[in-house]
Amino acid sequence: MDHFHYKENELFAEEVSLKDVAEKYGTPTFVYSKATLERHAKAYINSFKSMDGLVCFSVKALSNISILKTLKNSGCGFDIVSGGELHRALLAGADPKKIIFSGVGKSKAEMVAGIENDILSFNIESEQELDQLGMVAAEMKRIAPVAIRFNPNVDAGVHEFTKTGRKSDKFGVSIETAKDLIKNCSENSNLNLVGLTCHIGSQIMELNAFEQAAKQALELLVELDKLNINLDFIDMGGGLGVSYVGEETVQPIELIQCYEKIFSGRSERLILEPGRSISANAGVMLTKVEYKKNDFLIADAAMNDLLRPALYQAHHDVWPVTKNNGAMQSAVNLVGPICETGDFLATNIDSESLKGDLLAVKTVGAYGFVMSSNYNSRPRAAEIIVDKDKFYLIRKREDYSSLTALEEGLDGQV
Ligand SMILES: Cc1ncc(COP(=O)(O)O)c(C=O)c1O
Repeated sequence: MDHFHYKENELFAEEVSLKDVAEKYGTPTFVYSKATLERHAKAYINSFKSMDGLVCFSVKALSNISILKTLKNSGCGFDIVSGGELHRALLAGADPKKIIFSGVGKSKAEMVAGIENDILSFNIESEQELDQLGMVAAEMKRIAPVAIRFNPNVDAGVHEFTKTGRKSDKFGVSIETAKDLIKNCSENSNLNLVGLTCHIGSQIMELNAFEQAAKQALELLVELDKLNINLDFIDMGGGLGVSYVGEETVQPIELIQCYEKIFSGRSERLILEPGRSISANAGVMLTKVEYKKNDFLIADAAMNDLLRPALYQAHHDVWPVTKNNGAMQSAVNLVGPICETGDFLATNIDSESLKGDLLAVKTVGAYGFVMSSNYNSRPRAAEIIVDKDKFYLIRKREDYSSLTALEEGLDGQV
């Protein structure tokens, strides 16, 4: 459920007309609804009943610090995968004890930063990474908190590039290796084992794969009980799918009920790391139709602004900002000005749009702006947040000087 709706043929975010936003800040522009973000965060937070829960929003999905601040104020912690994301979460005022550091390739510097800031846990994905964390902690004369990410070898049935829980994927370690790493932890006085974690993929539309992974986590926990090894938390990652073009989805409450049933009677805290299901439907991208040619609408936004259609052949609904009741044309392709045939924003959409019309590409609040680039030397779009009847700029549109700000050599040293 989101807060984008038509009022007399004009598209609104909450109580703000998107036409007004485009008039003030231009296009392409990402617009997020605060009420939608809060609603989705609460849909998770308020669903924990028998287990103590912590929702760590996955910063990679949408990392603007104003958004992180909004989610922090709703009660979220953060799942991060880089020193840069740690920096953002801390700038947003996150409680370090609600920060989980995931990812297969944490550098030494990132480990130092995580330990210095006293984060909740490093989710460890290999023996070498665990060794390195132990060495870093020893050098700092500190104890690093560790959760082992196991790979349950389940196929979550999603796009090939967003599956992360199969044996052949680069993520996590097998259950057998997880047991070895747990033993290594208990023998290293600079490491403190606090949790068990997994994350099986993204945009998952059924409970089945989550269930399979949780059952394996439970088996491992029962084995650890026998060894008198107690953990603070079980972190089941993120992955819940959203509706891009009207698909049926699993609700956060259904997922949490499923986990609470499987982990019934356990004392560990349940941590989740949702990204997409909190922010995707909270964002639209405004773009203007520059030209119309054959079955192409050529927009002022492109794959550098929204990469998902080109990268994953992802589908996004496209809505006119003003319904003009023109003649509907089917099978129109919305493309950008970039010199790539794959530069699609949407394919085969029904549209009544004409040159000059404003469009809203929907469900771009996750893996949208964060994946944008300067390809073709295009400045990145602006970001706006809407709060009831007000809207605020939360990231300025880049300009040409932002494109070249870090480049050197014009003074003759090259
Ligand atoms: C470790 C980890 N946790 C959480 C997420 C968030 O996943 P989603 O946005 O599908 O909820 C990801 C995304 O890939 C991830 O890699």
